[in-house]
Amino acid sequence: KGGSVEGHAPREQWSGQLGFVLAAIGSAVGLGNIWRFPGVAYENGGGAFLIPYLVALLTAGIPILLLDYSIGHRFRGSAPTAFRRLHRRAEPLGWFQVGVSCVIILYYTVIIAWSASYLVFSFTRAWGDDPGAFLETEYLQATKPGISLDVVPQVLVPLVLVWVVTIAILALGVQKGVERANKVFIPLLLVMFLGLVIRAVTLDGAMDGLNAFFTPDWSALSDPGVWIAAYSQIFFSLSIAFGIMITYSSYLKRRANLTSTGFVVGFANSSFELLAGIGVFAALGFMAFQTGVDVSEVENIAGVTLAFVAFPQIISMMPGGPVFGVLFFGSLTLAGLTSLLSILQVVSAAVQEKLGITPRQAALRIGGVAAVLSIALFSTTTALFLLDTMDKYINEVGVVGSAVVMTLVLGLVLRRLGEQRAHLNDRPGLRLGAWWSVLVGVVAPAVLAFMLVQGIRSLLG
Ligand code: PHE
Repeated sequence: KGGSVEGHAPREQWSGQLGFVLAAIGSAVGLGNIWRFPGVAYENGGGAFLIPYLVALLTAGIPILLLDYSIGHRFRGSAPTAFRRLHRRAEPLGWFQVGVSCVIILYYTVIIAWSASYLVFSFTRAWGDDPGAFLETEYLQATKPGISLDVVPQVLVPLVLVWVVTIAILALGVQKGVERANKVFIPLLLVMFLGLVIRAVTLDGAMDGLNAFFTPDWSALSDPGVWIAAYSQIFFSLSIAFGIMITYSSYLKRRANLTSTGFVVGFANSSFELLAGIGVFAALGFMAFQTGVDVSEVENIAGVTLAFVAFPQIISMMPGGPVFGVLFFGSLTLAGLTSLLSILQVVSAAVQEKLGITPRQAALRIGGVAAVLSIALFSTTTALFLLDTMDKYINEVGVVGSAVVMTLVLGLVLRRLGEQRAHLNDRPGLRLGAWWSVLVGVVAPAVLAFMLVQGIRSLLG
């Protein structure tokens, strides 16, 4: 009963194309769009960064996204299963992607939990006059021995809540859980985020912020570091080479449109990213204006400190701050949750297939273990430092490494790109020319290998 007869469970499916597209956008649009992209673009040439960024999207981002789709859809399995069906010795590649996903899950949940608590703090301005100091006491000191008991609930409750919500959604399965959640969360995210951006650009000083963001520094184009930053932003942001898109596309119906969908998802994600750049820098311009400094002197323009130090300051300075806070932290929470669901599904699908268990059993087991680990991780005194470092290396080494191996194995070792392209072209939608195989099999691995070497270097140095 319930379609889960052992060994013969019919594979779960999206109810239709829309469910898949929303879930795929939900995965792509995450913390990386809101807090990573604006700072990366600003520091790597501003307006000029858009050129390497677009090149990276078109030469590697969308082509590899389509490779992920073609693998998941053709071999209809989680990452390890799909790679095993591709070639009996390729399964470890899938497990490597599952491993990378596990690491991300641990820190991603912690950040979502912080966002959720800051949503509440927006009303009380619990961060007081110095959000930086608040962040430290709240989240770092709180976990040192001798911690005062009233801080624990503030920190732990949201984390437990995030876990309860995600485990519940995951347990309901692909269509009733993940798809339905995205159908609610994504439109809501869009409305909230548009509201945020509109408010931000109407603030005093917003134009200075936007000028700082968009003013091109053309010399950046000759700096290889800038190109690496563009490719690595695209990879993380599109959630490619993590096994996510393999897993998600494995739930598509046979006749689904793959290629056009990939372009839609790719451009939707980048549009959201640009919008985030505008919203964040308009708000930073306002902060500069209020404090009477130049935008270029504003600190904390990315990551943990952008969200939990700079934004609280902005919210405190602003008339109607709590509403702005709800829009910002609400967006961050929703964007994070929909991405988290996608990475959890990678692990869940792999474990379901390996152990022959149901989505519900998998959700409870994985969720249980991951919840304990993420709580433990969060309880280290170096949590903040760890987050930033993990974020960096997961990107520069984990994801890039997995993408290099995947493209090299498919293109050079197994020579299977032609088949995968035929699979994509067999369906309705855009048709890919031979250029796709060249991009995926030659250009992408070359660029990626260079990035990997740089990434490992910076890891060692
Ligand atoms: N694409 C997400 C973002 O931009 C990040 C992400 C990566 C999410 C991997 C899930 C898995 O934030």
